[in-house]
Amino acid sequence: MEVLTSKTELRDWLADRRSRPRVLVPTMGALHRGHTSLFDRAREEADALGGEVVATIFVNPVQFGPNEDFDAYPRPLEADLAQCREHGVDAVFVPVVADMYEGDRSITVTETRLSTTLCGASRPGHFDGVCTVVAKLFLLTQPDAAVFGEKDYQQLAVIRRMVRDLDFPVRILAGATVREEDGLALSSRNVYLTPEQRAQAPILQRTLAATAQGIAEGRFATPQAAREGFLEAFGEATLARLDYFEIVDAASLEAVEYFGKAELRLLAAAFFGKTRLIDNVGVGRVALG
Ligand code: PAJ
Repeated sequence: MEVLTSKTELRDWLADRRSRPRVLVPTMGALHRGHTSLFDRAREEADALGGEVVATIFVNPVQFGPNEDFDAYPRPLEADLAQCREHGVDAVFVPVVADMYEGDRSITVTETRLSTTLCGASRPGHFDGVCTVVAKLFLLTQPDAAVFGEKDYQQLAVIRRMVRDLDFPVRILAGATVREEDGLALSSRNVYLTPEQRAQAPILQRTLAATAQGIAEGRFATPQAAREGFLEAFGEATLARLDYFEIVDAASLEAVEYFGKAELRLLAAAFFGKTRLIDNVGVGRVALG
């Protein structure tokens, strides 16, 4: 496995293999089974194409708000590289911030429709930072396909939109959310939770799944009733503060006002202390946790 620590090294590596198919998995490191499931998905895809898997590890400063955890974000590089190696990654691009961003950078990629609600409402500028770095990573690594997790459902939708609207020649593949046995979605931020918070955290997935099940079984007449059901059940999490809960059209991410034919997605974010956890489930495809 090649470890490429600068844009120059990446360009030199690419120079010999321009025509080889490539599948990209962008990450911020602190890798867990959620990330490695995306490497496995990428490996399958690359093997089918006769190509290679490129992962990137870059804690992207421009997608963090001023009071967020950029400095504290875990950076266990050696362990991360070992996981990349174990999961069949061919090359890892690990740039430093100064190589990715000029001090006077003045171009940003902004998505203006899907990124204004949900996490976008609580984290102003976050999706600008994500779109900008992902656009750069696409241009730098020139992949045929790239894999993103459904865990960050809004991010996946925003990136699909960016690729569509800016004509990036990249196929976007989605990986299912990988969870702990008690249902908690794996996240690099779970390490911030105290044992008490960790014990309560699975309620996020449980209440999302129960609400989705209730909708699928017709137990809620309206989205408003489903919302009340969610809020009541989530109220049991004494250590949590709900940031948002929304029932949206799975494609447009617009909140639904009645239950029609649209495929639905339920998304929620909650703070446990300072740690913000997100999760989401589809309706009809979920089992009670
Ligand atoms: P990061 O949080 O490191 O996540 C990298 C990829 O792993 C994302 O596509 C995310 O959805 C996926 N992922 C995280 N937890 C997962 C889980 N439990 N199951 C399945 N997939 C999971 O998302 C980012 O980094 C950044 O915003 C990035 C796209 C790299 C741009 O900086």
